[in-house]
Formats: sequence, C-alpha cells, structure tokens
Amino acid sequence: MATTVAVLGTGIMGAPMARNLARAGFEVRAWNRSLDKARPLAEDGVTLAQTPADAAGGAEVVLTMLSDGPTTAEVVAAARPAPGTLWLQMGTVGVDWTDRLVRDTDLAFVDAPVAGSDVPAREGTLTILASGADELRDRAQPLFDAVGSRTLWLGPAGAGSRLKLAVNNWAITLAEGLAETLGLTAALGLTPDHFLDFIDGAPLGAPWAIGKGRNMLAGTLDPGFPLRLAVKDAELIVTAAHDAGLELPATEGLLPAWRQSVEDGYGDRDLAAVVHRYPVGPKNGA
Ligand SMILES: NC(=O)c1ccc[n+]([C@@H]2O[C@H](COP(=O)([O-])OP(=O)(O)OC[C@H]3O[C@@H](n4cnc5c(N)ncnc54)[C@H](OP(=O)(O)O)[C@@H]3O)[C@@H](O)[C@H]2O)c1
Repeated sequence: MATTVAVLGTGIMGAPMARNLARAGFEVRAWNRSLDKARPLAEDGVTLAQTPADAAGGAEVVLTMLSDGPTTAEVVAAARPAPGTLWLQMGTVGVDWTDRLVRDTDLAFVDAPVAGSDVPAREGTLTILASGADELRDRAQPLFDAVGSRTLWLGPAGAGSRLKLAVNNWAITLAEGLAETLGLTAALGLTPDHFLDFIDGAPLGAPWAIGKGRNMLAGTLDPGFPLRLAVKDAELIVTAAHDAGLELPATEGLLPAWRQSVEDGYGDRDLAAVVHRYPVGPKNGA
C-alpha cells in the first residue's frame, strides 16, 4: 500500500511538492490555511484536508512547508500526528526554532530545508539539505527523491537548517550586490545589460544571478522567492550569527532597506524587486 503523506502548507513551494509526491505514487493529503490555494491539487490526485488533524490522522509521514517556526510549531501541534510519525520539516525556520522543534517533539524528526525556488519545486529538482538520525534516512529518501534531484545528508538534526542559512546568506548578499552593480552601471552611463552579458558564461557569472539580473532589468518580479521571506531569512541569519559571536556587516547593512521595500509594498514580489532602489528596473513593481 502507498505511504500516506500529510503535506501541511501548500504555498509557492508546498503545492508543487505535494503534486510531485502524488505523481510519484504517494497517497498525499494536503492542508493549507487558505484552502482555496490548495484546491487545484485535487486534479493531481491530492486529497484536500479541512484541518491539519484531518491531514495527519493515520499518516505515516508529515511534511511541513510553512512560512516560519512559530507557524510550524502551531500547525503540527494542531495536527497531532501519532508519536513516531516521520516528520520532514522542510520550511526555513532558522537555528533556534529547529533546535526547539527537535527538543520538543516525540516524532521522528528530519530537518530538511530545501535550496531552489518555485521552478525547481515544480520540476522536482530541489536540493534537500537533510539532517537527522541515520536510521531515518531510508524512510525519508524516497520522499526527497520525489521532490528533489539531490539530497545532502549533513549529520545530526539542525545541520540542514544551519547550512540553509549559509546558502541564503550567499543568495541574499548576491541579490543586493547585483542590484547595486546594475544601478552603478546605469549611474555611470552604461547599458546595464552589458554587465550581464559580461558575466554570462564567465567565472564571475552565477547562473542564478544572471537570471535574477535579467528579471531585474525586465521588471519581471513574479514571486519565486518573495522578498518578505528573504527578509525573514536575513533576520534568521543575523540572529544565528550574533548567537555564534559573529557580525555580518553586508547582511545587517542591507536589512533596513529591504524591510523598507516590504513596507513600500514589494513584500509579495520576488527578491529581485530590491533593484527598485537603484536607477534601473521598475519603479511601479509594488
Ligand atoms: N519560495 C522560495 O523560493 C523558497 C525556497 C526555499 C525555501 N523556502 C521556504 O519554504 C517555506 C514556504 O515558502 P513558500 O515560498 O511556499 O511561502 P508561501 O507561498 O508564502 O507559503 C507559506 C505557507 O505558510 C502558510 N502560513 C503562513 N502563516 C500561517 C499561519 N499563521 N497559520 C497557518 N499557515 C500559515 C501559508 O498559508 P496561506 O496560503 O494560508 O497563507 C502557506 O501555506 C518558507 O519557510 C520559505 O522561507 C522558500
């Protein structure tokens, strides 16, 4: 019989992950606070649940893909999975919350945030940053293979969330550096595309940055990685760094402007929207 998986949270990431699990043959029950967003999943064989407990009742696996730590704790408490249920915690909740979830749960917890945004989620090519007890690997891996193309097993639970913060610190500072650099080209009277043409295919050119840069110049700000979540992650990163005795001048430096951009209405746009502060890109993207 197919393994039953309760997917809690069907936002930008959780919805395509639920779809890919169903396509891979898992029995998927999905719950989302705004049920309407989950409805299209029914066409792909996903059963819609009215409450977290309806989704998790009798399920062998619970997968959380929610916005943050407090929400994750609250929803899983409401779901009341049976002790020993495999819990794949795949949202980005930071170090403190992950350690707290590990400490407080009687479930078989795997800390497994993902790298990759909406397109890899749809294509099933996410990278899973997995950590947890060795004996849980064989149970978790088939589910990770359904939503991702690469799994890194990193050690005891919590290592995945720590690496996820490092990965996102890289992405966030790269996005700000890119927006600033495109702004600089325009301020110097250059054509900003020429900078992207230069890095494209060159050692300095991360494909992710080239894609974001083209989107910045075209004003394509559909949310793959919404700015509000990038700000949440920057805050998690700075907190984790401070707790470890480290200052992060670049990340701390961009936060006030990024928070202001959210206040100015860009929170639900892609993080590429940070370019609006520079003399390139859209001024009316909010
Ligand atoms: N987007 C990316 O590129 C990306 C990549 C890797 C990891 N992540 C991480 O993955 C997680 C999900 O991201 P996403 O992009 O899918 O975000 P999203 O589209 O905003 O989805 C967030 C989910 O959390 C739910 N939620 C928020 N507040 C809630 C509350 N108070 N009670 C119950 N449910 C609540 C939302 O429900 P509603 O639909 O009702 O609002 C939705 O299901 C986040 O931790 C994010 O940082 C995102």
